[in-house]
Order: sequence, then structure tokens, then C-alpha cells
Amino acid sequence: MVAMTRASELTEPRFLDKSAERIRRMFGQIAGRYDLLNHVLSLGIDRSWRRRTVCTVPPAGRLPVLDLCTGTGDLALAYWRAGGGGVRVVGADFCRPMLQRARAKAARRRAAGVSFVEADALALPFVDESFQIASCAFGLRNTSDPDRALREMYRVLCPGGRLAVLEFSLPRHHLLSAIYRFYFARVLPRLGQLLACNQEDAYSYLPASVQEFPAGEALLERLRAAGFVEPRYHAFTCGIACLYVAVR
Ligand SMILES: C[S@@+](CC[C@H](N)C(=O)[O-])C[C@H]1O[C@@H](n2cnc3c(N)ncnc32)[C@H](O)[C@@H]1O
Repeated sequence: MVAMTRASELTEPRFLDKSAERIRRMFGQIAGRYDLLNHVLSLGIDRSWRRRTVCTVPPAGRLPVLDLCTGTGDLALAYWRAGGGGVRVVGADFCRPMLQRARAKAARRRAAGVSFVEADALALPFVDESFQIASCAFGLRNTSDPDRALREMYRVLCPGGRLAVLEFSLPRHHLLSAIYRFYFARVLPRLGQLLACNQEDAYSYLPASVQEFPAGEALLERLRAAGFVEPRYHAFTCGIACLYVAVR
């Protein structure tokens, strides 16, 4: 049975279960098809967003890079490539099936300097001030406590270390916004459910979670509250995604 989300559901607030168990189970169910779905549902644009993230916040120096909520490791691997193989990258996620894909991908690409760690973004198993960059693509929104995740990223960054958070947002332009909302509410959940066949309804959860998550200035305020300075954001693809950057 294909799950449907009414367009109106995108404007009605609804309770989203973001408990660790639910999120871990949901991503565990779609791990095998996650990459395919990402590329199909974003028409391949997600790759360019990760590339732009790495170009905007490039590695510099010797300390490792942390990619939080790394999933199947695409951003971690992009950082490893950007560092010319000379910068160590650690990908962290609490969903084992996603990490298994990430490790297999890194092995296929002979990315020996990338390691993957099973860890909760809300209680990172890393010492203070040990990373030069903390990145997180499409993950912060899924944590049960994004402010705590931001504080953890702040803690493990070295002074002067940089934060790069990539997240979906809703375009501001009126017509584009209407088209996008239709795609998000009607097309994406059906297509996603059809391809992923997961019981947790991940592709109905996606638009709902994007709608309720702070974007733009509101998220910059959360970065400031976590202690970061010089926060700013770059809108990608007419505001469908935003990259938030800041300094510790
Ligand atoms: C939408 S995926 C993003 C994966 C990847 N960063 C990308 O760009 O495609 C979100 C990931 O966040 C992870 N995640 C959510 N909450 C987490 C938490 N509290 N600790 C660690 N990982 C978490 C999920 O397991 C999932 O792999």
C-alpha cells in the first residue's frame, strides 16, 4: 500500500517521533536503497550540494574532519577527496546498516584515511577540541535534540574550527515554493515509499521534518546559542537546501 501525504499536511504541524529507536529503525530499513533514492529523488542534485559544502568549508591543517550523521558516508568521502587523501576523516552515525554501506563504499574507493564510528550525535565519544571541521548533511534535523548535537560539535571542534551543516529548506519564491510543496507532499512520499518499501514511512517523514525544522535566520540563532560565531548561510538551488557555516 502506497502511503500518501496530503498537500495540506505540509502546513499543519504534527507530532514527529524522533526517538533514537524510531530514527535508527527507519534508516536501517532504507539503508540498502538510500543512495539510489537520494540521487533519484533529488535528480542527482544532492551530489553537487555536498561538493559545494566541501568547497565552501575546505579542509586546512592536520586535524581530522568529523562528518556527523554520516549515513552511507558520501560527505565523509568528499572531505577525504578534498584533503587529497592526506586528512583523516571520521564518519559517525548511530545506524549500523548505514555504516556498513559507508564502510563498503570507502573500501571500494580505497579511502584508507576514512573511518566510520557507531556513535550518537548527542554524546560523541571524542575528546574536546580534536577536529578542524564538523560537518553534518541532512542529519541535524533527524536528531531528537539538535541543540545538544550542535553543542557536541562545538565541544569536539578546535578553537577556530569550522562547522558545516547542510539541510533541506523550503524555497521562498512563491511559484517555486508551490511546485516544490506539491512535489514534496504528493510525489516524493509515494515515489520514496514505492522504491524503499519501508514500514516507517521515511518519505512522508521527510517533508514533515523539513517543514518543522528551523531554517535560515532561525537556525543561525541556534548556532549562536550553541556558542558558534560568524554564522551565515548559503542557499543552494533556489533555497531547496541551505548550507550553514560557523566558527568555534
Ligand atoms: C538523512 S540521513 C543523512 C546521511 C548523510 N549525511 C547524507 O548526506 O546522505 C540522516 C542520518 O542521520 C543519522 N542520525 C540521526 N540521528 C542521529 C543521532 N542522534 N546520532 C547519530 N546519527 C544520527 C541517521 O542514522 C541517518 O544515517
